[in-house]
Amino acid sequence: MDTVANYSEKGGVGKTSNSAGMVAEAAERGLNVLAVDLDPRATLTEELGVKDPRFTLNDLLYIDPEADTPPGDPAELIHDAIVRAGDGWPSNVWVLPSERPLGRRETDSTMFEARLRRALEGLDGEIDLVVMDVPPRAGGKLATCALIAAKKVLIPATLTADGRLGAEQALRTIRFVSSPGSGMNENLEIAGVVRSILPKKDDMRAVNHFVNQQLVETFGDKVLDSLTADEGQYPGIVSYSVREECRVACAPITSAPGREAKKLRGWYGQLLDHVVTQKGA
Ligand SMILES: Nc1ncnc2c1ncn2[C@@H]1O[C@H](COP(=O)(O)OP(=O)(O)OP(=O)(O)O)[C@@H](O)[C@H]1O
Ligand SMILES: [Mg+2]
Repeated sequence: MDTVANYSEKGGVGKTSNSAGMVAEAAERGLNVLAVDLDPRATLTEELGVKDPRFTLNDLLYIDPEADTPPGDPAELIHDAIVRAGDGWPSNVWVLPSERPLGRRETDSTMFEARLRRALEGLDGEIDLVVMDVPPRAGGKLATCALIAAKKVLIPATLTADGRLGAEQALRTIRFVSSPGSGMNENLEIAGVVRSILPKKDDMRAVNHFVNQQLVETFGDKVLDSLTADEGQYPGIVSYSVREECRVACAPITSAPGREAKKLRGWYGQLLDHVVTQKGA
């Protein structure tokens, strides 16, 4: 099973869009995909067409501090928690939904951070790819849950001061979680930094070039170059209105017509190539 977290500590840089795009593209390839929504605003849950879930990630993580018996095994509970994505999404897409009360876990002092990793172990052999959408926050317990459960991280970064800050702060947290002796996730790997929501090439400003240089200084060849670029443009995900249209329609990018949707699909597919283990490899 491949597991990837889309993570930056800055908001609005494309975490949820890249998550939804990768889920759509992976489903199109025939993979059984699970989307895990760690954002208490439940934007990915909504986009994947899941309404009023009965059991959510919040229920899975929760430990009753007063209970005399140990909490339930997440590797078993996960089977009650996941639901199929809604109308319009392929039937091989599953969702571990979020809900607003998940936000309470950020200040919960019980030690629940490894429960998501354990839950995913319960899906071994059933799910091929897990895509996690992480909320923007400086560290925090939900981000830690995701980084303990993930094998790889993709960091989206807009070419702005905020995009860079979010990526650099994410790097600090990733180093902390993966440091030897942390006991959390020493094998965690950065799959890449994704230049994200780029302005169209004629709008590229000096500040974009400056921030790009800073990203390359910090992350080196982790800044993904494989996303094909038009001349005068950085390799990365360009801003196209069809993305927002898909979000509003709660529909996968794979169902959208037109040249821009095709480009976006191609880029989300390339992100997948960075995280999915090729069969036989
Ligand atoms: N390639 C794109 N073209 C146009 N708009 C995009 C693209 N990618 C993302 N967006 C839009 O930019 C906004 C922010 O993107 P998104 O919600 O994916 O970021 P996020 O990092 O998940 O934000 P948050 O931190 O608030 O969860 C959204 O309105 C989204 O639809
Ligand atoms: Mg988001």
